[in-house]
Amino acid sequence: MKKALLILSSAALLAACQSGNPQLGKSSLDKVLKAMTLEEKVHFLIGTSETIVPGAAGTTYSIERLGIPSIVLADGPAGLRIEPVREGDANTYYCTHFPIATLLASTWNQELVEQVGFAMGQEVHEYGADVYLAPALNIHRHPLNGRNFEYYSEDPVVAGKTAAAYVRGVQKNDVGTAIKHFAYNNQETNRTGNDAVISRRAQREIYLKGFEITVKEAEPWTVMTSYNKINGTYTSQSYDLVTTVLRDEWSFKGAVMTDWFSGDDGAAQIAAGNDMLQPGTDLQYEQIMAALKDGSLSEAQLDVCVRRCLELVLRSPKAKGYAFGNNPDLVAHAAVTRQSALEGMVLLENKGVLPLKGAGKVALFGCTSYDFIPGGTGSGNVNRAYTVSLLDGLKNAGFTVDESKKDVYLKHIADELAAYKASLPKDGSADFYPVPRPSELDLSASELAASARNNDLAIITFGRNSGEFFDRTRADFSLSDKERKILNDVTAAFHRAGKKVIVVLNVGGVIETASWKNIPDAVLLAWQAGQEGGNSVTDILTGKQSPSGRLPMTFPVDLMDAGSSANFPIDSDTGVYFTNRRVDIGQKDVDRTVYAEDIYVGYRWFDKKGLDVSYPFGFGLSYTTFEYSDPAVKASGDGLEASVKVTNTGNVAGKEVVQLYVSAPAGGLDKPVRELKAYAKTRELQPGQSEVVTMKVDAYSLASFNEGSSAWEAAAGEYAIAFGASSRDLRQTVPFTLAQGKSWPAHDVLAPKQPVQKL
Ligand code: BGC
Repeated sequence: MKKALLILSSAALLAACQSGNPQLGKSSLDKVLKAMTLEEKVHFLIGTSETIVPGAAGTTYSIERLGIPSIVLADGPAGLRIEPVREGDANTYYCTHFPIATLLASTWNQELVEQVGFAMGQEVHEYGADVYLAPALNIHRHPLNGRNFEYYSEDPVVAGKTAAAYVRGVQKNDVGTAIKHFAYNNQETNRTGNDAVISRRAQREIYLKGFEITVKEAEPWTVMTSYNKINGTYTSQSYDLVTTVLRDEWSFKGAVMTDWFSGDDGAAQIAAGNDMLQPGTDLQYEQIMAALKDGSLSEAQLDVCVRRCLELVLRSPKAKGYAFGNNPDLVAHAAVTRQSALEGMVLLENKGVLPLKGAGKVALFGCTSYDFIPGGTGSGNVNRAYTVSLLDGLKNAGFTVDESKKDVYLKHIADELAAYKASLPKDGSADFYPVPRPSELDLSASELAASARNNDLAIITFGRNSGEFFDRTRADFSLSDKERKILNDVTAAFHRAGKKVIVVLNVGGVIETASWKNIPDAVLLAWQAGQEGGNSVTDILTGKQSPSGRLPMTFPVDLMDAGSSANFPIDSDTGVYFTNRRVDIGQKDVDRTVYAEDIYVGYRWFDKKGLDVSYPFGFGLSYTTFEYSDPAVKASGDGLEASVKVTNTGNVAGKEVVQLYVSAPAGGLDKPVRELKAYAKTRELQPGQSEVVTMKVDAYSLASFNEGSSAWEAAAGEYAIAFGASSRDLRQTVPFTLAQGKSWPAHDVLAPKQPVQKL
């Protein structure tokens, strides 16, 4: 049947050629564009619900008579999201579940992220997709954003550099990326209607900066606009954002697509330069046609978008006739995900217990030890063939694991899951939602005492899951009473028997740690490490590789310490309310979120306020130690070049992440205490070995956005250049004088209707 269709369509194509129609790829774009009817043009800009690759998020409209094929858009960012099984087909189409974005950012290793992106891109190519709807790089404005796991960091330089590396890797396969969600998509609560009220400076320096870096450094094929509004206008309908900033200022040459069903006016989206509307609705078709008819949208405006979409289709594997094999090397990619996950895990505490010396007998506690979480839910979920639990990872490495409680745990997990599923609406509308973590088991004192007698070590895993549609809650941020009880009781029993306890955090976002982190002997933040998670955690615990992950965000002592907590819809799913620490800035409901902390997001806030944190931005322990020496900073180009010598002063091999923090000269604009401007990771250094790392920062990267002059300005004067092992562990500081100030004009756009009243 399929074959007959193919023959038919090539016959139709031939007939079309013979009838003299221009053909995409063979005739000039001008000719193809000219040959399109108005109806065809409008259809072409609107997605279709046609299924080419089952489970892919969208397709574009094909016009056979002009040789325009339909291209396939499929989700990420932790791996390709397609259906793994197809009706009447014995083959499977599983994809590799790679580590979540936040873990990749925690590697601070752009080369490694590029390799992971390359492996992901191979699966995109081999499974017949053309554009991979990833990476996602919105700023972690608040710890409870439900999609933070898909995003990288509270810092735009980490977000931008990580995304750029990822895009380079994916696009080496001649498939496209869609960097998303452009922009200010920092909460799930009322995500399709929320108006983000943000000053121009905070937009430029914090929320747009990562996108700017990625566009300029990696040239993604496409950009996906977000659901929310910016200062009253849907991002997909904002000419200022999509054309003035993205194209005119940053020279973006690709196509822009909407997020799925976003905005409320298809014609306004096209007028803004948002070229493609996905997944496409009849209403959008009518809106565009009506606007063309009444003259509020011109055909010339339409053609600009049509041309960019034609260019996108033209460069796709589909247009090149790529014969995909549906057979990517999943075995090789399993090795990529296992290895890459190691570099992004962050060792938070270690009282001499890690790395484990020799394989002993291990008791596992916490439901998640038996049921590891590879990643978050929603469109960022990946249909993988398997997930390695911690139990299996330890066994694979030769540990004897006490399995006496395994069946009890597995039954308890299955029962709670079944009860949850039974409570869902039967129409499938909630299937996409994050599944709540099972409650912890009650374990008696005598059971625990016996376990401590019979085993050499205890590992407790705490899990958290989240995803699209919901923000996390305060309850999710803290350990539950049962989790606390397990932690206290297991630790007491094992310590009494002279044995150690390790906590593994299998989480997708920040949780509270300050109140309990000193109870166990070690805490490993494993994040959600993809399908090989249990093996990767074991590799770290056994010291196969020294931990070299560093936090791309701050872990606060108290959730309410974060500046953004004053204006984030905390606990929105239990009835929307804002915290009583909110200052009165006129915010009434979830329709508006005022970014009153302004540019002071993450460490910029905690440093400005001088607040203690549980773990600072950039923090992470290693099994070895590093010394920084010979710091040097010199002028280079219009900016500076900084270098420092890093020596491994410990007993085992390891990699160090050197973070370059810059404090601006006093006077002029209000500035953060310090800001990350560059970073570098050493190669693996053997004990005693050194490496000199060099980082460049141009003058533009030193600049702040002056709303008064609507320009980026790098002030002349003395900057403090600090080489840090974290934002609060500065090892060497060197002054650098920028002899002459410099400025870069920018368009005066995207202003809030009223000035943002700042905290
Ligand atoms: C998400 C996007 C995703 C799209 C297509 C939307 O709900 O916000 O990230 O790419 O769906 O699945």
